[in-house]
Amino acid sequence: MATTVASHDPQVKYIGKPGEVSFARGLEGVIVAESTKSYVDGNAGRLIYHGIPIEVLAERSTFEETAFLLLYDKLPTEDELEIYQMRLRQYREIPDEVYQFISCAGRRYNFHAMAVLRTAISMLATFDDLAEEDTMVAYEREAIKLISRMATVVAAIGRARKGLPPVHPRPDLSHAANFLYMLFGEELDPLLARVMDVILILHADHECNASTFTVRAITSTLSDLYSAVVGGIAALKGPLHGGANEEVMRMLYEIGDVEHAEAWVRRALARKRKIPGFGHRVYKTYDPRAHILRRYALQLTQRAGKEKWLKIAEVIERVMIEHLGQRGIQPNVDFYSGIVMDSMGIESSLFTPIFAMGRIAGWVAHALEQRRDNRIYRPRFFYVGPEHLEYVPIEERG
Ligand SMILES: CC(C)(COP(=O)(O)OP(=O)(O)OC[C@H]1O[C@@H](n2cnc3c(N)ncnc32)[C@H](O)[C@@H]1OP(=O)(O)O)[C@@H](O)C(=O)NCCC(=O)NCCS
Repeated sequence: MATTVASHDPQVKYIGKPGEVSFARGLEGVIVAESTKSYVDGNAGRLIYHGIPIEVLAERSTFEETAFLLLYDKLPTEDELEIYQMRLRQYREIPDEVYQFISCAGRRYNFHAMAVLRTAISMLATFDDLAEEDTMVAYEREAIKLISRMATVVAAIGRARKGLPPVHPRPDLSHAANFLYMLFGEELDPLLARVMDVILILHADHECNASTFTVRAITSTLSDLYSAVVGGIAALKGPLHGGANEEVMRMLYEIGDVEHAEAWVRRALARKRKIPGFGHRVYKTYDPRAHILRRYALQLTQRAGKEKWLKIAEVIERVMIEHLGQRGIQPNVDFYSGIVMDSMGIESSLFTPIFAMGRIAGWVAHALEQRRDNRIYRPRFFYVGPEHLEYVPIEERG
């Protein structure tokens, strides 16, 4: 929560009046805007998108429909959904220059997929003559383009990592099925397309997380939507945010075997190591998205003969809850999403870009919301530096 205590150091002297303003490390508990998009009840383990529980959307909706809900604050009618899906499909293709850049990056050893995604989305802006048009109608059109094209870029990155040429989008497939088609070069089992759809729904929004906050802060300066989304990607890349799903898989590989799992976690905790996929600023109970993904992990690891990863994960979960559950440190969305995607044959470097493919819906919805009732984000720092310091010429400095 916000407090008026500004530092762990009792010697720190503040300039200004700290008693009159509040300060919260990591902006904990700070409300930055009103929003109609999503709400997290961290004690009840509940997440809603515009009033609809995440469990209901994961079971009954599609990514396209959920993105519509976030953008327009309503579920679409059949006609609205059809027109909107047509718009999404029409924007799928990206310029050759962007494919070329992704292929070039693919020739470099071990490139970071999120770094390529960040650059590729920025490049898209420079090939879009309408990117700088500053009206709400243009903003909404660019939002739909970005939701659509993010999937094409992520799939091309996935292929470039394997040294394969891109597969161009197909207009006849759903967003999730088309993504898998572009990634694997063939249409996959409808079950896998449905699982990808659910993954995208679960990642579509999560109220004021670090990347959405970044998107809204950039939008508040009246910058363009591409710039805001590039900022969102940059924030999501970090291991404390979207990068955690990749870290989870790395941890499972490092543990390697279910027999070693318990000792590994105990050792890691004794060393005060943070276990990826656990803990959350808002949830103090099991993340509802992790519940849903855990069920898919069970089904898909069996199907792929990769039960080992789930077994290791279950040991980690048990030990973590035993040790830290009382303190509200429980599995979050990233703990099981990687295992699900790994069982689908997706390599771990793509986990965070796929997170971005879902979150783009929330980012652009929040950007539009910010633009409709904008005021520039301009918070303060507690200045804890010296108040008067003499300027010493360089030749006199010791
Ligand atoms: C998500 C996260 C960044 C939230 O951070 P936060 O609200 O600032 O919480 P803090 O990092 O201050 O953690 C509070 C306490 O819980 C502990 N803790 C939090 N997450 C932990 C984890 N995953 N493993 C072990 N300990 C953890 C911290 O060490 C800290 O302990 P202390 O009070 O004894 O110092 C944090 O839980 C984390 O780093 N998790 C792992 C990364 C991850 O999964 N991120 C994806 C989030 S969806």
